[in-house]
Amino acid sequence: MQTVGIIGAGIMGAGIAQTVASKGMDVVLTDISLEIAEKGKAGIAKGLARLVAKEKMTQADADALLARITPVGDYAAMAGCDLIIEAATEREDIKARIFEAAGKVLGANAIMASNTSSIPITRMASGSPDPARFCGLHFFNPVPVMGLVEVIPGLATSQDTIDRMKAFGERLGKTVVLAGDAPGFVVNRILCPMLNEAIFVLGEGLGSVEDIDAGCRIGLNHPMGPLTLCDFVGLDTLYEIMKVFHATTGDPKYRPAPLLQKYVEAGWYGRKTGKGFYDYSGEKPVPTR
Ligand code: 3HC
Repeated sequence: MQTVGIIGAGIMGAGIAQTVASKGMDVVLTDISLEIAEKGKAGIAKGLARLVAKEKMTQADADALLARITPVGDYAAMAGCDLIIEAATEREDIKARIFEAAGKVLGANAIMASNTSSIPITRMASGSPDPARFCGLHFFNPVPVMGLVEVIPGLATSQDTIDRMKAFGERLGKTVVLAGDAPGFVVNRILCPMLNEAIFVLGEGLGSVEDIDAGCRIGLNHPMGPLTLCDFVGLDTLYEIMKVFHATTGDPKYRPAPLLQKYVEAGWYGRKTGKGFYDYSGEKPVPTR
């Protein structure tokens, strides 16, 4: 694996790009426009500058890492990639359009992977040029810091693709777990209903934002409270994930919390928009209710 194409230069795509480039591989990074891909790279540069300031990285290593990331405005530049990772918005229609378009330039031996949080892999693979070379590859935010990647084979994924994805995850320094192809796979199947439940708890007035977060942070020894984590993941993403769980299984236990829907409809997506369960405009986050 020497050149990796990444589609989506948001929090996840940029995090994956940084991690891949940090291991000496070249990255071709794209989004809906060259400007957004360049913005993704600028965000990586900002994060690296912080690491340099904290003396966790040398300026030379930061420069070399950035030089390995090439923002592009279309998929043509991905023709030479050994692997293309889709890390776009968590919406199946958007992803399907990407697989169709990027599939046209996918090399004969190259793999196409999706960083989807929840959407079944087998279903998406059917819209790719070769389902045997299609796989789920699920990273965790913040990608450079989190030590896990889930490899999710679809029904037709070949053993060779699984082996290559496992080796790739290990080369990134991650622990690789193999997860079955059902909505949310292993980790999000457990995490997202918990986050959704925290929002039900808030909506039912059982605890304040700060008490729900402190309760789980201190009582369960989690690094972040669930509402802080919701803001970190993005309420829009969590809402899409819960809709996929609910629609795919038909099980009412997965219905999105009404308050989650309300916040998304208000455009309060969490940290990325500056407001969610907390307001991030000041020095310290302040609960919004
Ligand atoms: N690149 C490289 N290193 C980075 C970095 C980056 N972009 N951002 C932070 N770091 C490093 C810091 O330098 C620091 O290193 P050090 O320990 O050597 O000093 C370390 O990471 C921790 O960073 P901070 O000190 O700034 O922050 P915290 O100690 O408060 O930790 C956190 C931040 C790691 C985000 C922690 O709060 C945490 O683990 N939270 C939970 C995150 C989580 O659950 N993620 C999964 C979400 S679910 C998901 O992603 C799936 C999706 O499908 C929904």
